Amino acid sequence: MLAPLAALLALTALSLAAPSPPYPRLPRQGAAASCTRALLRANSEIYLAAQTAGNPGLLTALAAPNFTYTEDAVARDIKKGALATALVLAHNRTIIDTTQCATYTEIISTGAQTQRVIGTQLRYDATGKWLVKAETLVTKEGDWAFNATQTYGYAAREDGLWDEIASAAQDRRAVIQAAGDAYLDLFNNASVVVPWGTPCHRLEGGWYTGNGSATDSCNVGVPSGVPITNRRYVVDEVLGTVDAFVTFGSRPDSHEFRVEGGKIRFVHTLTVMRNVTG
Ligand SMILES: *[C@@H]1O[C@H](CO)[C@@H](O)[C@H](O)[C@H]1NC(C)=O
Ligand SMILES: *[C@@H]1O[C@H](CO)[C@@H](O)[C@H](O)[C@H]1NC(C)=O
Ligand SMILES: *[C@@H]1O[C@H](CO)[C@@H](O)[C@H](O)[C@H]1NC(C)=O
Ligand SMILES: *[C@@H]1O[C@H](CO)[C@@H](O)[C@H](O)[C@H]1NC(C)=O
Ligand SMILES: *[C@@H]1O[C@H](CO)[C@@H](O)[C@H](O)[C@H]1NC(C)=O
Repeated sequence: MLAPLAALLALTALSLAAPSPPYPRLPRQGAAASCTRALLRANSEIYLAAQTAGNPGLLTALAAPNFTYTEDAVARDIKKGALATALVLAHNRTIIDTTQCATYTEIISTGAQTQRVIGTQLRYDATGKWLVKAETLVTKEGDWAFNATQTYGYAAREDGLWDEIASAAQDRRAVIQAAGDAYLDLFNNASVVVPWGTPCHRLEGGWYTGNGSATDSCNVGVPSGVPITNRRYVVDEVLGTVDAFVTFGSRPDSHEFRVEGGKIRFVHTLTVMRNVTG
């Protein structure tokens, strides 16, 4: 056994080797899991504040020592990434997954110099306090059907249509995820039965399906022969929504589905026009 002084020195050496601020200390062992909706909501507001201020440090204050960050499916230094550019947000919506302790946030900025539509998945440890992984897709001029003004115009039409679902009417998470999976599977298997809801709208970049009639359908065709792989989900039963970050053929992509009574009512997609490598 080490003498007390040696033990103290050993501890000091350990703490010197630990990551420097802003990384926090690890949570106490045995700390009760506390990954609540309220905490994840508060964390997502920190993310939005970081993006609004152009200050990644607001978010990295939550980062665990093993935190990883990717942007458009490439590992990057978060301090030099999208969060470093201050954005005025025309729109933001967050879904919350207390089972996985994760969130997905969609934001639209229509600023003259900073037109962006961004999707971000944030994953925390079991306490919900320490951010372990952030993945973001940043679409801009040149990406699939990109036009932030149009995306915002269509997204704004859906105000009030992605709200909380009364608990008795909520689908189980497996049902919500299966609806999204069926849609994603359709791109590589025309026999898949997709639970289409009606009316249904697809917002893909600045492109929108439907004309506002009660019969608007999302079943208006998808490309075939496109495997959609490497799916990372965030599922929110309260909002009836699943987001999947995927490799769409070869591209980094997000598909977000609003599901009601097991059926798909809205789809929002982001596709970055570069190939996923590695
Ligand atoms: C996010 O959207 C809500 C309305 O849904 C709004 O009240 C809030 O101010 C927005 N946050 C930011 C940072 O723009
Ligand atoms: C990363 O850090 C978090 C928080 O300390 C911990 O819960 C998690 O197990 C770590 N993950 C890995 C892969 O080490
Ligand atoms: C985006 O869409 C708006 C509204 O339809 C249009 O006025 C504008 O020219 C488009 N911008 C680009 C860069 O295509
Ligand atoms: C395609 O989907 C159908 C219907 O779900 C299924 O029976 C079939 O096995 C799928 N084919 C492949 C190659 O996965
Ligand atoms: C909407 O589109 C459908 C299908 O193309 C068409 O049958 C219907 O007449 C259109 N409704 C309106 C109000 O434009």
